[in-house]
Amino acid sequence: MEGMLKPGSFKDKTIIITGGGTGLGRSMGKYMLELGANLVITSRKQAVLDKTAEELKNETGGKVLAVTCDIRKYDEIENVIRQTEATFGQIHGVLNNAAGNFISPTERLSHRAFDIVVDIVLKGTYYTTLAAGKNWIAKKQPGVFLNIVTTYAWTGSGYVVPSACGKAGVLALTKSLAVEWAKYNIRSNAIAPGPFPTEGAWSRLLPGDLVKKFNPAERIPLKRVGEHQELANLAAYLMSDYSGYINGEVITIDGGEWLRNGGEFSHLEHIPEELWDKLEKERGKGG
Ligand code: HXC
Ligand code: NAP
Repeated sequence: MEGMLKPGSFKDKTIIITGGGTGLGRSMGKYMLELGANLVITSRKQAVLDKTAEELKNETGGKVLAVTCDIRKYDEIENVIRQTEATFGQIHGVLNNAAGNFISPTERLSHRAFDIVVDIVLKGTYYTTLAAGKNWIAKKQPGVFLNIVTTYAWTGSGYVVPSACGKAGVLALTKSLAVEWAKYNIRSNAIAPGPFPTEGAWSRLLPGDLVKKFNPAERIPLKRVGEHQELANLAAYLMSDYSGYINGEVITIDGGEWLRNGGEFSHLEHIPEELWDKLEKERGKGG
């Protein structure tokens, strides 16, 4: 799987990625570095960030700043913005990627468990967005937000209800600010990924033997999970100047998964060809 954009597409651009030390955030950041970006990665764990920053610098030759930040703490986000500007100057894009999630029947959750996920996903995203947006507006600088949601941000989903609530809020934030802040030349878009294997998601959403019982690929018309570079290509495009006229859009990248699972007759894929032959013959007899 190859990168899609022209080399140098992110030259002199500075991008902040929350949750950028692991999983999909790391992969998207790596690709933007390859395209010439200055990258800032944040999360709660400095040791993880430092390791990733070192690896990314070695792999790409790019510049990476790693700053600890719990996105539920507004002053820590302001610190990321200050440190980014001190190191690289102007900020061009913010990728709201950090999240928390786990599976559970909702009635088994404590109110603290519900809070923890909603606070990371929704409060963390609107805090980061507010701090970065105010900074761009005050300095009359353009900017681009890219928010990572999920397909169940629209449909809701049992067993991940706090995450569904949080992501639905992020979807509303994306569309609302796309309109309100367009006058400041600030774009807001989102990506709704289907399953992309990461340690963080798989360990929490398919723990223990579940990974053997539920193969996510089986639910997907294309019969495979996503490749990180496929997501990185889309994310880089949506944060680049090439997508300058796309604003308020949410792009699903899931191999057709959520449409298939919402389709009334999608389960007819289980009917074998012989049975279709038989049904066709019987239809013929009936005239
Ligand atoms: C029920 C749980 C739980 C679980 C934690 N809690 N895990 N309840 N089932 N599996 C409860 C705890 O008992 C506690 O409540 C409260 O939640 C806080 O737990 P802590 O462990 O103290 O929280 P913390 O250490 O801050 O960790 C936050 C976390 C953790 C969200 C629980 O999983 C985390 O750090 N996640 C970050 C990364 C992540 O989740 N990545 C996956 C994103 S994947 P009490 O009442 O006991 O105090 C994703 C994909 C979506 O979003 C779509 C896929 C297709
Ligand atoms: P991941 O590796 O666990 O990424 C989540 C990141 O968020 C971690 O780096 C984590 O770092 C950070 N984070 C959590 N709480 C934070 C906080 N309070 N402040 C700052 N950072 C915090 O999982 P992933 O699969 O790559 O997920 C990335 C994004 O994709 C998420 O938005 C997720 O909902 C979305 N997504 C993933 C999939 C999938 O199949 N993988 C599908 C749909 C959507 P720390 O723990 O160090 O803070």
